[in-house]
This record gives sequence, structure tokens and C-alpha cells, in this order.
Amino acid sequence: MSVVYLNGEYLQAERATVSVGDRGFLFGDGVYEVTAAYGGRLFRWPEHLRRLRRGLAALRIDFAPDRLEPIQRELLVRNGLESASVASVYVQVTRGVAPRSHAFPSPPVEPTVYGFANRYVRPARERWEEGFEAITVPDQRWALAEIKAIALLPNCLAQQAATEAGVSDAIFVRDGIALEGSHNNLFCVFGGELATAPKSNYILPGITRDFVIELAAGLGIPVRERSVGLGELYGADEVFFTGTTTEVRPCIRVDGRPIGNGQVGPVARKLFDSFLTATGPPGR
Ligand code: PDD
Repeated sequence: MSVVYLNGEYLQAERATVSVGDRGFLFGDGVYEVTAAYGGRLFRWPEHLRRLRRGLAALRIDFAPDRLEPIQRELLVRNGLESASVASVYVQVTRGVAPRSHAFPSPPVEPTVYGFANRYVRPARERWEEGFEAITVPDQRWALAEIKAIALLPNCLAQQAATEAGVSDAIFVRDGIALEGSHNNLFCVFGGELATAPKSNYILPGITRDFVIELAAGLGIPVRERSVGLGELYGADEVFFTGTTTEVRPCIRVDGRPIGNGQVGPVARKLFDSFLTATGPPGR
């Protein structure tokens, strides 16, 4: 049974309830973060915090997210995950509870703050080496995708389409450009060089994306942040996804078409090995 955090209290998950007037429930009016914890250490929390702060400011929710750090550590401890090799922590802040009305409550109300921690199971290396598959879906999200908003219906529909197609990921395509996955960022390899969509209002600026770009620099792999068209994606030597819990996930087939030679490529493998080294050995 898991222990969650809700508005100042640590509770058994089934005892944690929010009001039907919560604007997260009524409008999807809130932001969230998912942060990995390797060996109990929050991975790149300062970067997550910066993104969360930007999202709160964009939505004009008055909440100081710094105080989430000790809460996340406590969630790991209370759920016996303080030394788990891999875990994740979720935190969400909504505008709070108010009678339903589109405009913000005035005066403002206390934000609702919720958090939980989960162990996650990294796929076995043999499974990883088989590679994963994806489909493409039209990007029907709003034009503020850089905000990590809890309103994720297009992402859920995209991931459901992937699930029904029997594949692990869905790639959003807007105006012919392959932007990112339903819950991860997208990289292609062309002639030993990485390409990934530049940061814009059409993608979530992933913390793992930035980390993998740093790893690539350390390995001497050139990176170009540029738009990749769908036709180009189909013709890539390699494709892979990055994200919290996704880590580095190689994609060997998109829309049923083999990518490169249809096998996991050396660049994804090098980056994943480097990722594993940087985040600690598995099975600790
Ligand atoms: N998703 N793009 C989208 C649309 C995402 O939802 C995510 C993260 C990412 C990767 O960002 P990061 O590397 O910071 O995790 C990219 C989280 C994990 C989720 O919704 O569960």
C-alpha cells in the first residue's frame, strides 16, 4: 500500500481524496513533474524545479515549488524507495478548489498539492536490445506544449492508439514534422549525427533530452537541434526516445517501417550505456 502526500499530510493512497470543486478535476488547471530517483537521489531536480516554476508562472498559480523537494524525499522514504535503484516521484499542483467558473477564483485559493512515489521496472537488457516500435499520430495538442500541464488528453489518446496498435510509443506529427512522443522526446541519427526537435512551444523541453545531449557531447557525438520531417524520420539510421522512466528507448520500427537495418543501433546503445553509468548501476 502506498503512502501519498496531499496538502500537508502523508496518507495511505486510498484515504487521499480531493474535492469535486478542484480545478484540476474540473478544468485540468494545474502542472506536474515526474522526477526519477536513482539510489534514492532525485535526478536533476533543480532542472525539474526550473521547468515547474516556469509552468506555474505561465498559468499564474501562486505557489513556491521549492518546498516540494523535502516532500519528494519523504515520499521515497515512506514508500521504502530511499535506496531503490530506480524509482520515480510525481508531484502535481492545481489552482485549488473553487465554485466552477472559467476565470480564476478571486481572491485566489490555496493550491492543491499532491505527490506520490513509484518503483519502476527498467526493461531487461535483452528486451531493450530487441528494440521497440512506434506509430505516428497527428499532433492535436494546444500550442503551449512546453508547459507541463496536467491536461494530457491528446497525449492519452495518442498513447492509447499506440497501445491498441501493439507498440510502445506514439510520435506526434505536426505540419509534417515529427516532434516528440506522447510522453517522451524523440531523437534521430543520420550519419552518426543526432537530430532532435528544437525547443519551442510545440514540445516539452525534456530534462532527459538535455541530459542525453550532454552525454552525446561527452562521447563526441554531434547534435543538431532541428526539425525532422516524417519522411526523413522513416529514413533515419536510428530513432530513439528519451524521458523520465523512458530513459533511452530505441525504436526499430515506425508505422510498420523498419528504421535503418531494423535493429537497435550503436548510437542509442552508446548513449544508454553512458546513461546507465551516470545514473548508477542497475539492481542496486
Ligand atoms: N513525461 N515530452 C512529453 C510530452 C512528456 O510528457 C515528457 C515527460 C517528456 C520527457 O520529459 P522528461 O525527460 O523531463 O521526463 C517529453 C512524463 C514522464 C510523464 O508524463 O509521465
